[in-house]
This record gives sequence, C-alpha cells and structure tokens, in this order.
Amino acid sequence: MNKKKTKPRKSGGGGGGFAKKATAINIKTKKKAANPDFTYAGSIRPFPQSPTRIVDPAAVLSIPDYAIDGVPKKRGSAYEIEIKTPEEIEKMRKSGRCAREVLDIAGRLVKAGVTTDEIDAAVHAACVERGAYPSPLNYRNFPKSCCTSVNEVICHGIPDERPLEDGDIVNIDITVYLDGYHGDCSEMFCVGGKDAIDEKGIKLLQTTYDCWVKSMELVKPGVNYNVIGKTIEDYIKAEGFSTVRSFCGHGIGSVFHTAPNIFHYTVNQDLQEMQVGHVYTIEPMICEGFADPYMWQDDWTATTADGGRSAQFEHTLLVTEDGVEALTGKIETSPLQFWEEESAIRKGIWLGTSENARARAEELSNR
Ligand code: MF3
Ligand code: CO
Ligand code: CO
Repeated sequence: MNKKKTKPRKSGGGGGGFAKKATAINIKTKKKAANPDFTYAGSIRPFPQSPTRIVDPAAVLSIPDYAIDGVPKKRGSAYEIEIKTPEEIEKMRKSGRCAREVLDIAGRLVKAGVTTDEIDAAVHAACVERGAYPSPLNYRNFPKSCCTSVNEVICHGIPDERPLEDGDIVNIDITVYLDGYHGDCSEMFCVGGKDAIDEKGIKLLQTTYDCWVKSMELVKPGVNYNVIGKTIEDYIKAEGFSTVRSFCGHGIGSVFHTAPNIFHYTVNQDLQEMQVGHVYTIEPMICEGFADPYMWQDDWTATTADGGRSAQFEHTLLVTEDGVEALTGKIETSPLQFWEEESAIRKGIWLGTSENARARAEELSNR
C-alpha cells in the first residue's frame, strides 16, 4: 500500500521506458549496521533471508521501470485519477486474474513448519511461469517477490526462514506485473486452520473481512471516495478494533501506486468522486490494539507498536457503470475461508456488485 503523503507530489509523466535491456536484474541490498539492542513490539523476530531471487527480463513479458535500480520513475498524476481504456481494462483483468492464481498457490502452502521464504520461492516461480514480473521485487529495494505479514506485522513483512507456527495468522500480499499492468491482492491465512486460532483472532479476521466487503459494496460511479474510510472505521470501532492510518490503498495500473489515495479511516472532507474506469485498491489493516506502526530496522516491516495482531485483505477494483468488479476476485479453484462462509455482510465469494460480477459469483457458488 501507499505510505501516506501529506503533500501532493509534483505531477509528472516521466518516461517509464525500460532503462537497460537484457541485463540480468541485479539487486543491491543495503546493509546498515543493526542496533543489537533494538526492541520488538511482540514475539515475531526477523530470521535470515535467502539470497534475492532474480528475474531474467527475457523470461517475462515486461519488467517495471524500477526493476533494475529500485527507483520507480513513471508516477502518473498525483491527483488526477486515470480513466482506464477498454484495452487497459482487458490487460488489468489478466493481471488481476494472474495475481489471484498466484495468491491461491501461496495460500495452499500455508502450514506449520513451512517458511515464508518457501512461499516466496513458489510465488516467484508462479509469476515467472505466467510471464509476469513479481512487482514487489526491488520496488524501492524490497528484496523479495511478495509480502508475508505474520501476527503483529501490519504489512510489508519480508519473507524469511521463520517457520510458520500453528495459531499464526498471516497475510500474503501478491502483486504481479503482467504485460505492463499491475494486479494487487492479499488475503489472510490461518496456520493450522480455524481451530488453531483463539476467539479474539477469529473475531479480528471476521471483522476485517466484513468491513472490507462492506466498503467495497458501496463502490459505484458518483460516490465520494470518503465513504470507504468512514464505512470501515465505523464498522471496526463498534467491535473494539482500530484501523491503520499510515498506509493507504491506491490507484493502480501501469504504475504500482498512484492517485487516488484510499483512506481506511474517516476523512471529514469531500474527496473526489468515483468514475467508471477508475481502478484502485481497498486494503484495510485492522488491529486488535493500537494501530500506530512500529518499524523494524529493515525499513520495511511495519508491526503494531503494542504487539497486538493485525489483519488485512486487498482487492484491485474496477468501477463499472453498474457498480464494481474485483479484478483479483476468486476463481473456479479458489478455496473459501470461514470468514466468507460466515460473513455478516455477504456470504460466499464476493466478486463485486455489477451484474457481471453477481452472475459470475452465482456460477462459482454452484460449482
Ligand atoms: N502490495 C503492497 C500494496 O498493497 C505493496 C508492497 S510494496 C513492497 O500496495 F515493496 F513492499 F513489496
Ligand atoms: Co496495494
Ligand atoms: Co498489495
């Protein structure tokens, strides 16, 4: 997700051309001296990381403009929200579906004893097999191909050698860059299944899923972007949870993170209005306790400051004439989780509110 920006960035096209051709992508890992006395908020600790997995540019359809040096160049306007053309939408459907396939592959691996690095290896291979570049890889020097955020980790957890343990809740966040367009989604997974999770954890997962679906159900042309955050915050507050303010959802397309910022909390002012052809993510991070992030020394891993757990779901959404479609929605083979079966907002697979999306969801639930 987007780090919240207070000042709008200078808008600027800036050619996104691929700087170098056919040189293997070489990732610099910054090594700074770690403070041995660093204190952690909860019980998760960093484990060793395997060497970074490299993508051969010739093995995928295209690579993003930051793949070589870690610096994103094309940003799009900081304010103006792109209206995607039908051709772009077609490509984003494909990248969305690809991200979903990879997320499902990752989720099936979740089991006690499996390391998040093993999941990253499978994610990396599944992306490349599909002709896609794993978007997180070298994005602002991020060293791995997906984010794995366990228990008190809010987001941007780096896959490492820590074996998952029964009772862990883990968010896997997959973004793929397929043929010039990013598709971004994430989902929670319970290590050891629902039975391994305590009651408060179950409530956190159900509430996070339900506030997310509730906010997505309201998406349609003409709606102000501020309804998303208000819907989320009102819903989770009533359950005694808190919503993260430091990371936002984001517009997405040929650029990973672009306008608009999607706030997952109440903003007491009018924002822009949704329009047909807008594509953006909703990805609330909901916490048991305090929602202020506490950063690890790797400059990526954001945990809660009090060690309480955090949960998150994410879809890439397309605004249509008659509502919204999840471009990263579940497919024929996707497993259903307990929060979908037991949702207070909408039971079963949620693919959107458009006629298209409803028909498709119906089809899938009758499979
Ligand atoms: N997928 C994340 C999001 O939802 C962004 C990850 S950026 C990374 O926006 F560099 F941490 F991978
Ligand atoms: Co995102
Ligand atoms: Co994401």
